[in-house]
Amino acid sequence: MSLIKMNIAVIGTGYVGLSTGVCLAEIGHQVNGIDVDEAKINELLQGSSPIYEPELEPLLQKNMKKGNLFFTTSLEIGLKDAEIIILAVGTPQHEDGSVDLSYLFGAAKDLAPHLKNKSIVVIKSTVPVGTNHQVKKLIEDHLPHPIAFDMISNPEFLRQGSAISDTLHPDRIIIGSLESSAASKVEAMYQPLHASIIHTSIESAEMIKYASNAFLATKISFINQIANLCESVGADVEDVAMGMGMDKRIGATFLQAGIGYGGSCFPKDTKALLHMAKQNGHHFSQLNETIAINDTQPLLLVKKAVNRFTDLKGKKIALLGLSFKPETDDMREAPSIKIAQKLLELGTVVTAYDPIAIDRAKQVLGNSIHYANSVWEALKDADALFLLTEWGEFKRIDVTRVTGLMKQPIIFDGRNCFDTDKIEACEKIEYYPVGKKAILKEGFY
Ligand code: UDX
Repeated sequence: MSLIKMNIAVIGTGYVGLSTGVCLAEIGHQVNGIDVDEAKINELLQGSSPIYEPELEPLLQKNMKKGNLFFTTSLEIGLKDAEIIILAVGTPQHEDGSVDLSYLFGAAKDLAPHLKNKSIVVIKSTVPVGTNHQVKKLIEDHLPHPIAFDMISNPEFLRQGSAISDTLHPDRIIIGSLESSAASKVEAMYQPLHASIIHTSIESAEMIKYASNAFLATKISFINQIANLCESVGADVEDVAMGMGMDKRIGATFLQAGIGYGGSCFPKDTKALLHMAKQNGHHFSQLNETIAINDTQPLLLVKKAVNRFTDLKGKKIALLGLSFKPETDDMREAPSIKIAQKLLELGTVVTAYDPIAIDRAKQVLGNSIHYANSVWEALKDADALFLLTEWGEFKRIDVTRVTGLMKQPIIFDGRNCFDTDKIEACEKIEYYPVGKKAILKEGFY
């Protein structure tokens, strides 16, 4: 089956909307990206990506040059020929864990006057079960005159840092619909990806997204609890995870112990699912625990340092890595924030380095901490190193250089980044990984 070129509009040019739009243009469709943020649209029109995401900018430029991809703030222009309109606006979180749907509802109302007969509105934003129907009603209420249109739930599963590759090579594509011809058209839109497509009801599609993220978050909290226990009983969590992961029923991924999950999805989606359960009279105690474990996991690293130094006041601590994961500058719910704040509360002097996220980190942590321009600048005269994000640059650090630079080479590795054999071989380094035996050098300190 050859590609049927479609006119697609994507409303929202954040991580999800932009990656989706660029990839749909890359596979041959005509795509208009629409956003209310004029500065962002202007940047995109210059061929520059407002977010750091590997592979994104070259694909953006390539498809703009080809004429497949265009950006605008105008719904009238952006929706002019749109057969499929993808809603990919942000769905942030209210204080009580519920989802703030105001951007989505706003976009639905605004697009209604520009909707063409037989067009399809696809919700890609993560939304609670039932939202699709609410959006349909809202659009109907704001149509200048009645027309026929369909709604599809098509949740995204892309990870920041590998958004382009995840979008072009998805494990599966979920299409939730009420109407089979609309679902077939969305399936045809994705045809060049040759992905496994699953058709479900709209409610199931909406739930698949929450259930998937909550399950992955639970897997991480579970392995973090196992890691904490490993430390007490002398087991090695990496060996345990490898042994578990080879069981196909368990799977090897998302078993990396550390300082907990962050980002824009897991923290928000777990709380939203909990809220949804409560509203429907269900006590989802397991998910409650997943969240509670994740809340305390980052602070265990600080606890280890307190145990080691007794008093952290006045100690100089170097933080390596600030973003919630490597290959992104995103600081949302990054464990580094909690850790930096706790260290400051305990009177330490914090200096941080991150290859990409410093500017965004400054927006969160301001000048409460110092920022270094390199690993080596951060480590100079430090009493301890906290490794918080597993950037490739940190994995390649020559640990022998650490010894000469730091006041005392004591490493608290929140991501099990360093090679323990190399650490063992270094005469002086004291090393505290997660879920594994610490490497202590008796007599040095
Ligand atoms: C996640 C989902 O993976 C994606 O499908 C969804 O659509 C959006 O949310 P993302 O938040 O970009 O993607 O990153 P992900 O790679 O899933 O990592 C999330 C967090 O979990 C990070 O803080 C990461 O460090 C942590 N994590 C992940 C672990 O601590 N251990 C692991 O084994 C895996």
